[in-house]
Amino acid sequence: TLPKEVTIIEVGPRDGLQNEKNFVPTDIKKQFIQKLKSAGVKEMELTSFVSPKWVPQMSDAAEIVADTLTSHTRDIVLAPNRKGIDRVYATDCQAVATFVGVSQTFNKKNINKTTDESVAEIVPIIKELKTKGYFVRACISTAFYCPYEGKVDVNDTVKLCQAFVNAGADELSVADTIGMAAPHESFDVFKKLKDAFPTTLITAHFHDTRKLALPNILAALQAGVDRFDTSAGGLGGCPFAPGAAGNAATEDVVYMLERMGISTNIDLQKLVEAIHLVKPHMTRTIESSYFQLNA
Ligand code: HMG
Ligand code: MG
Repeated sequence: TLPKEVTIIEVGPRDGLQNEKNFVPTDIKKQFIQKLKSAGVKEMELTSFVSPKWVPQMSDAAEIVADTLTSHTRDIVLAPNRKGIDRVYATDCQAVATFVGVSQTFNKKNINKTTDESVAEIVPIIKELKTKGYFVRACISTAFYCPYEGKVDVNDTVKLCQAFVNAGADELSVADTIGMAAPHESFDVFKKLKDAFPTTLITAHFHDTRKLALPNILAALQAGVDRFDTSAGGLGGCPFAPGAAGNAATEDVVYMLERMGISTNIDLQKLVEAIHLVKPHMTRTIESSYFQLNA
């Protein structure tokens, strides 16, 4: 049986914007975040504390956090390494996402370390974050396919998840980074993860390169997942994953779920307003069906 309610984790301000070449004014990013919160979003990735040389779009992370944190929401920031964590400690943010790829080649392109080197660095950081009382989300990239290595062995995905669960992570956000998974693979992988980690929050993160994000979300729902990372306007993509299109569009996911009688507690009209705020600054077009029909 499907859940009556699901949690949407809005990743638009982070995943959605990180791949945009033109710098989006910091003030527009703040308004975007505030509008998304007013739409009912309770969990959101605000930004990432990564190298500004690698991702200039995220260079205003500290200012974004300073002006958008609210106590009634889970406001998450990404950090890839010790330097990123130290920048988080200088803010009031209480929820951190680490990110590692199952594929060694992808991880090297994304954070300049092999997967094993990243795990060795991040496991003690997760333990430290937990002793300090932080909420820790572990993002698992290339959990299905890698742009460089092809199909990823599900056992490797489970093994990486296990390392983060052992370290104390509260949540696993498991990603189809380049949008190559098909629904039967979504079902199988998420069923395995739900069985293997019954007390950990399991979240599905689909990119929509091949227009399979919605079917993959439906398959994950059937496997018991009730948390989904989505991006307003379907923006997004990892700059170091060639071929990665945007995330599943929040408004299309909300529309589908609400039509199925599954509540998301998100206001579609306000989501549309949020997209209008950033749209003039995007080089790409907004392709989501809900936005096109209701803009
Ligand atoms: P590096 O060049 O190997 O690191 O990059 P380094 O330690 O040699 O540092 C290089 C420079 O960056 C130094 O500056 C550092 O101080 C600075 P310099 O001395 O030359 O002036 N630096 C930093 N500055 C600010 N914040 C930091 C930081 N770290 C170093 N945290 C590094 C390694 C990890 C930093 C780099 O590779 C990086 O920033 N990578 C991030 C890439 C990224 O943001 N990818 C997108 C997010 S992940 C994603 O989208 C996938 C996800 O959505 C799930 C999915 O869909 O799969 C989550
Ligand atoms: Mg992503």
